[in-house]
Amino acid sequence: MIYIVAAVAGIAGFLFGFDEGVIAGALHLLRAQFSITEAQEGIMTAAVPFGALFGALVAGRAVERFGRRQMLLVAAVLFAIGALCAALATGATMLTLARLLLGFAIGIAGLVAPLYISESAPADKRGMLVSIYQLAITLGILGAYVVGYAFDDSWRTMFSIGIIPGVALFVGMFFLRDTPRFLAIRGKTAEARTAIASLRGIPSDDPRIEQEMEEISETAEADKGHRGWAELFGPVARPALIVGIGLFFLQQLSGINAVIYYAPTVFQEAGFADASTQILATVGVGIVNVLMTLVGMALIDRIGRRKLLLGGFLFAALSLGMIAVGAATDAQSMDVVAFVGLVVYIGAFAASIGPLPWVMMSEVFPLNVRGRGMSVASITNWGFNFIVVFSFPILIGLIGLGGVFAIYSIVCAAGILFTLRYVPETNGLLLEDIERHLRSGKPFRQLGRTPAVATAGTAAS
Ligand code: BGC
Repeated sequence: MIYIVAAVAGIAGFLFGFDEGVIAGALHLLRAQFSITEAQEGIMTAAVPFGALFGALVAGRAVERFGRRQMLLVAAVLFAIGALCAALATGATMLTLARLLLGFAIGIAGLVAPLYISESAPADKRGMLVSIYQLAITLGILGAYVVGYAFDDSWRTMFSIGIIPGVALFVGMFFLRDTPRFLAIRGKTAEARTAIASLRGIPSDDPRIEQEMEEISETAEADKGHRGWAELFGPVARPALIVGIGLFFLQQLSGINAVIYYAPTVFQEAGFADASTQILATVGVGIVNVLMTLVGMALIDRIGRRKLLLGGFLFAALSLGMIAVGAATDAQSMDVVAFVGLVVYIGAFAASIGPLPWVMMSEVFPLNVRGRGMSVASITNWGFNFIVVFSFPILIGLIGLGGVFAIYSIVCAAGILFTLRYVPETNGLLLEDIERHLRSGKPFRQLGRTPAVATAGTAAS
């Protein structure tokens, strides 16, 4: 059952990647039909991250109030309407508005889907299951590249394909329950018990159900009367907030979307002369992105979050540094250096820097501020996504490919220090164990190092 839950919520991730990526293939057709200016083009592209900022802002409060399931249903409807409006657009303005709406839906889904999976998952598989969300994003990006290639004479077809996963998300969520944690907080204890039994595939009288219910109500009790923004910035939740914001800041400033949105340009800068090789290299990037996410999923609950993150930042810093040095020194076989460098970078990102902020964002916040905390973390993601995508062409003009990649490389090196200093090990722990540690006032990064806590988590899962 938990795999069905993860797969359905994962459709939201697919839509995220698809709607981000589809514009790349559609732009040249739109240019021809509507004779749009470069500025309009930029606004149309950036409308998705911009709309998502607002979606994330609204979703934090709403998910605590209306629940995870209802918010995913709302997002599904918005996805379908947005795709329909984009497909029927009569001009650049309507298309921009449609993409704003799609962005808004992505902002909601980008927060709620990982939360929905995380709260439904057993502790020992949580990392892998939430990573399904990231896998779905990468499949969505690849899907958009493929659709752009297959229907390269009709942008309306490209956009209308987004309606299908929107409807699928709605139908899937319609038949699923909300998470045991949300049901229990709402006092629907019988439903919460049924949800646990079905998620874990255990009979309704299994003692593990009571154990999990007790954990949930214990945390809910500790949370009572401690809601709101002040609580999120207060001493208990602050270490979690630092992890949430910090990881998304680093994820975006590692330059991933400069590569995802502008891969052909990057390859052109690096000396790939003809357009078809550039596109082929771009699809290559999309495929590596998907495959290496699978590798990350296999590793995340085995070697843990911290080691995976450290490894990811290390390889990313080295590969980006290699491209920077190559470009700055005008290396002879720069095209080879760029291709190898980008493949290693995307691999490191996909296995680690990509999924981990999503996974940890859904784990670290105490239940009472989980929605708001994830909202702030998601806003960080979208805000810096927007900044990177917008600044890339300008920076290339100012300091060249070498300079830009040098900045991204330094950010990844800083990621190593950040992980060592602030990131806890949440592998195998119950969300309630994580919260208990935060409330104990001990340094957050010590979590997961004390065997007593770790054993409690594994035994109860
Ligand atoms: C990031 C996106 C990015 C994607 C690439 C996600 O984790 O948040 O901004 O486009 O990974 O696979």
